[in-house]
Amino acid sequence: MKGIILAGGRGTRLYPITRGISKQLFPVYDKPMIYHPITTLMFAGVTEFLVISTPQALPMFKELLGNGQNWGLDFQYAEQSEPRGLADAFLIGESFIGNDPCALALGDNIFHGTGLGEQLQPINAANQGATIFGYTVADPSSFGIVEQGPDGKILSIEEKPKAPKSNLAVTGLYFYNNDVVSIAKTIKPSKRGELEITSINNAYLENGALDLKVLPRGTAWLDAGTFDGLLQAAEYVHAVEKRTGSKIACPEEVAFHLGLIDSEQVLKLAADHKNEYGDYLERLVR
Ligand code: G1P
Repeated sequence: MKGIILAGGRGTRLYPITRGISKQLFPVYDKPMIYHPITTLMFAGVTEFLVISTPQALPMFKELLGNGQNWGLDFQYAEQSEPRGLADAFLIGESFIGNDPCALALGDNIFHGTGLGEQLQPINAANQGATIFGYTVADPSSFGIVEQGPDGKILSIEEKPKAPKSNLAVTGLYFYNNDVVSIAKTIKPSKRGELEITSINNAYLENGALDLKVLPRGTAWLDAGTFDGLLQAAEYVHAVEKRTGSKIACPEEVAFHLGLIDSEQVLKLAADHKNEYGDYLERLVR
């Protein structure tokens, strides 16, 4: 399965701090935000990534992530010059996806929870239809919202509804079979002029091929796209890491545990960070 990380957009909700730098490069306590979606997809078994961002920010992502070899991964890059919507990722990424299934992770979505990795692994293996993840939120008008029948069957998904039919939001982590590329070619821009991911999900729903998994209450889903959200995400990561002594979204650690890199490579990477981050990496293998 291929993986696309969408790290474009203007980040207007965070002006003025996003005027000169891409949101997904911001620190969330001790790591850049984009480490979160990368490690989420790594847990799902993805090793080949396409990072999509603006022409201005792309060089900075390349500087940060390189070709991925250090982590046993493969990173490719593509530009999205205008924010044409999330579903545009599948048009930009068509040749990267090839004949494979594809996961999409939004660059500012942070997931954390016990067993999340185990929940994601079988989706990659099954490779059928589409799988999306629901999460109960207090402010449903800001998200794609699921309407469910009494038996839990999905009736519809609405993008940022004014009168939301539930509090179940669709999170920014999506798994699709290869049909996603042809579906992306058929959908029309919404009223706000974007190719909506919700239109893709509704197309799968109409074909009877959409699976919704509701994230358990113990899972944290954080949106780091607002002033408060960004601070809260940093406070969350800080609190959990200090309390448990384990890092959240540490790609070197995940790569080591998945067997993508060996202990020698971890030590090499540790030597690159002459700080607490490097000490942590060293402790992992000693
Ligand atoms: C996007 C999607 C929305 C989804 C959200 C999750 O919203 O359009 O359906 O619930 O991501 O973060 P946007 O980032 O465009 O506000």
